[in-house]
Amino acid sequence: MFFDRVKSLDQILESAEKKGLKRQLGWFDLMMLGVGAIIGTGIFVLTSVAANKAGPGMMYSFIIAGFVCALTALIYAEIAAMVPVSGSAYTYSYAVLGELIAWMVGWALILEYAIAAGAVAVGWAGYANGFLSANHLGLPLALTAGPMDTITGTDGVIAHGAFNLIAFVISLVVTGLLVIGTSKSAKVTAVLVIIKIIALTAFVFLAFPAVDAKNFEPMLPNGWGTPLSGVGVLGASASIFFAYVGFDAVSTAAEETKNPNRNLPIGLIGSLAICTVFYLLVAYAAVGSVGAQPGGELSQSKEPLAFILRKLGYARIGDLVGIAAIMALPSVILMMIFGQTRILFTMARDGMMPEAFTKVHPRFHTPHVVTIVTGVVVAIFSAVFPVSVLADISNSGTLFAFFIVALGVMILRLTQPNRARPFKTPFVWVVGPLALAGCALLFISLGWDPTIKYFCIWALLGLSAYFGFARHNSLLGKESNVEAAKKIQIQRIVAVFIFLATIGYFFGSQIMKLFTQ
Ligand code: ALA
Repeated sequence: MFFDRVKSLDQILESAEKKGLKRQLGWFDLMMLGVGAIIGTGIFVLTSVAANKAGPGMMYSFIIAGFVCALTALIYAEIAAMVPVSGSAYTYSYAVLGELIAWMVGWALILEYAIAAGAVAVGWAGYANGFLSANHLGLPLALTAGPMDTITGTDGVIAHGAFNLIAFVISLVVTGLLVIGTSKSAKVTAVLVIIKIIALTAFVFLAFPAVDAKNFEPMLPNGWGTPLSGVGVLGASASIFFAYVGFDAVSTAAEETKNPNRNLPIGLIGSLAICTVFYLLVAYAAVGSVGAQPGGELSQSKEPLAFILRKLGYARIGDLVGIAAIMALPSVILMMIFGQTRILFTMARDGMMPEAFTKVHPRFHTPHVVTIVTGVVVAIFSAVFPVSVLADISNSGTLFAFFIVALGVMILRLTQPNRARPFKTPFVWVVGPLALAGCALLFISLGWDPTIKYFCIWALLGLSAYFGFARHNSLLGKESNVEAAKKIQIQRIVAVFIFLATIGYFFGSQIMKLFTQ
């Protein structure tokens, strides 16, 4: 009874046609958009997190995460070409699996986009703080990391931070830019992509000659990893998955793409392929040149690529790679916050988020309310949490959304076999189940505390928000389903109960932790 509200695909296509965005993007533009959204904190910063979890075996982690993303990209290409609307996993799920699942996907996408934006902001702050202190302008150490993060002092003592000021500020600056209407400009994206590619290429060229077989020993200091442990090769794969996230941004430009049937799959799969090649080269060069044992120097660095180059004697180029990251990463934050606002905007238009989220600024013509709310939340999270925690939590939401999209594509093959499919996922009955298995494997490899625990808490809050508010406010529900007032009442009471129990559990477990530490 909770799975009955489905928005038909034709309805979705029709409303997209009415909006009539100009179709002007070709495959090259899409590829630039994809690479622009993909290369970011993952490769520039999380390389050290992966080293800490897997040691040199993190090279396998890059391959595993890349493989799962490749499977998902093939799936996304089918649905994006079939329903070329500026939606996302939320819109697709609404059409295939109904409102409740769509709501849960939209709710999970808040992790994928908003929390990811926070992670990239913290990653950016690592490089920005490194740059400032190299130029004798460094902030007090306590202001370079959040209270849940740690910092290593010059004396080697590890302490907790207080507030990640720079991450907080960059999140608000990017939010301000979005409010006044700065958007993804194709030219700026192209320039930043070139800067990132030059930086990674320079890194590979300089680090490759220093590769030493000794640095690969022991290859798997933490083994392959066990479910829920969050370490080992699989634990690192689950974290490094973050480095590949963003290729789905290509699908959000579907409505503006010329000949989407051909260009969308090329854009999606092509951008992922380019990034995968770079990542594998960077990972090999990083491990081979300075070693990557857990707890070692690389694993502690907040600006690992610059650190490696400095260690190899290329201090100046290390600084330049740092500057490249400083220049390029804000655009990733921008894309993430932009994506988030558009998803919340769509959900609000469907009646499932507060109506204020659909307000458009009279002068700037941007959805300023939802942008400011999103930006402030991102800023607070980035000021408090470490990049590794934010990236992992973001990954949990993304993996959930990818899983549902893969399921949806397979279900559509069965329920609407005759619908036109400009691009068909090859061997869908192999690729689809493998994508499901891959997403599930990475999800359970994330580690229970804090990632999966926080995901479950988030999901329960999402359920209570749905039954307490969204379900009764949804336009689709209002049109198709007149529910008895009593039924709504009961659902609201259950929702409040779930909400209070979840919040109680969360704070209870935090307090217990304080006492047991
Ligand atoms: N893939 C993006 C990054 O690594 C999210 O920053």
